[in-house]
Amino acid sequence: MNEMDRKPMVQADGGTVTPGYMPGFGNDFETEALPGALPQGMNSPQKCNYGLYGEQLSGTAFTAPSHQNERTWCYRIRPSVKHSSRYTKIDVPYWKSAPNVIEDVQSLGQYRWDPVEHTDQPLNWITGMRTMTTAGDVNTQVGMASHIYLVTESMTDDYFFSADSELLIVPQEGRLRFATELGIIDLEPKEIAIIPRGLLYRVEVLEGPARGFVCENYGQKFELPGRGPIGANCMANRRDFKSPVAAFEDREAASTVTVKWCGQFHRCEIGHSPLDVVAWHGNYAPVKYDLRTYCPVGSILFDHPDPSIFTVLTAPSGVPGTANIDFVLFRERWMVMEDTFRPPWYHKNIMSELMGNIYGQYDAKPQGFIPGGMSLHNMMIPHGPDKNAFEGASNADLKPEKLDNTMSFMFETRFPQHLTEFAGKEAPLQDDYIDCWSDIDKKFDGTPGKK
Ligand SMILES: [Fe+2]
Repeated sequence: MNEMDRKPMVQADGGTVTPGYMPGFGNDFETEALPGALPQGMNSPQKCNYGLYGEQLSGTAFTAPSHQNERTWCYRIRPSVKHSSRYTKIDVPYWKSAPNVIEDVQSLGQYRWDPVEHTDQPLNWITGMRTMTTAGDVNTQVGMASHIYLVTESMTDDYFFSADSELLIVPQEGRLRFATELGIIDLEPKEIAIIPRGLLYRVEVLEGPARGFVCENYGQKFELPGRGPIGANCMANRRDFKSPVAAFEDREAASTVTVKWCGQFHRCEIGHSPLDVVAWHGNYAPVKYDLRTYCPVGSILFDHPDPSIFTVLTAPSGVPGTANIDFVLFRERWMVMEDTFRPPWYHKNIMSELMGNIYGQYDAKPQGFIPGGMSLHNMMIPHGPDKNAFEGASNADLKPEKLDNTMSFMFETRFPQHLTEFAGKEAPLQDDYIDCWSDIDKKFDGTPGKK
């Protein structure tokens, strides 16, 4: 899809690979970086070709139902036990996990933040993660955290994996490369990626500084929402998701592996790159998706559906229809509804809504919610259009109108979201956000027919 997908990449050992992607979501992929590296017709031959080690990475319980069961077979230079040694606990002070309820930070309310700006401090994928909210409990694998990342430095001989979560990454500026065990994903604004739980990777800055949003999913994996009567097409289509082809490094160098495990960070030292998977097959893999391929569906006569109509991905919670997390996209679209208040209506919601602006202007808040900024409307806290948006939309001449230059998203969870100390005290919180509703008038005076 992108030009850069085809460009050869020079790896740290001087070799080159051509990054590429395979289309599909949750497909049973197979890929090999060297011919004949992938066993055919079986998973675990007595001896693997090239002297590789066979190893299974299980993303779901062995006994998960077939349609949800995910695992990948890796054929690698060394087994993963060689990419692990004695761990030492380390401090990553800005990356928080639920439960993280701070006594003197209030989470009840409507909140909005300006973009968190970069500083002179060099930051990588781990040190540059700034947790904004947490929900649920990482130890029981329910809930999520939302983060902003500020990345200026590449990881070189440093690698990371999260045993706690899969990460949904939403870039807002800059370009990043995720060099993973299963291949390479290059990522830029208007795209998203999912890095599965347990997958080792390194993040490089292709174009910096890089800033974006992350949804850390402690629970069941993201999947595509059922379309119901919409049918077999539209919204996010499976073919527009891309998983990387196999790419490996055979590099001896003093390296570190950092692991996020039960909300804590640990580090160990190894003597080589752990990105040594020469071939793999399976359905547990990182994936990227171009948000510009999302085909929005909406009302074509009057009213509009609930915002769930714009769900890109959903992570189930175990309660049918009640997501641990929904990832919802508000992008360019036509508004054609007759005699209708077209922006999102005023509402209170049992779900907790964290939004971020990727670019452009959001229709319910023409000012103040700017690219790189975030907002939070927590469980059962009322919100909706500001006065200008209400008056504008109530008095507009309702011709077909294109909402252009707009891309915002929502991480919506069934669990209340708690602000971190960073979100409440350090990040650029807009103290006057709540005032955007203060001058909404009372129009009612008992006169029938008054509008
Ligand atoms: Fe809302």
